[in-house]
Amino acid sequence: AKYCWVDKDTCISCGACGATAPDIYDYDDDGMAEVVIDGDGNRGITPIPEEMLEDLQDAADGCPTESIKVADTPFQVAVEN
Ligand code: F3S
Repeated sequence: AKYCWVDKDTCISCGACGATAPDIYDYDDDGMAEVVIDGDGNRGITPIPEEMLEDLQDAADGCPTESIKVADTPFQVAVEN
């Protein structure tokens, strides 16, 4: 499985990820991208559904700041706010 989260400290709100993979990414009130897969809350602990893996890879490759973190095992990102 693949897991993903967005590092909002380096995201520049370019908007590429949401355009490439609208089922995976959306934007918070500050325009920063986040993973919105059901229940994940950008923690990187929810497996990305099989049918979205291609979009996931395209989005990760397309992020100009390499803010999209992808791994084979769950992350444990502390959610701020
Ligand atoms: Fe941010 Fe990269 Fe998406 S800069 S808006 S995470 S493509």
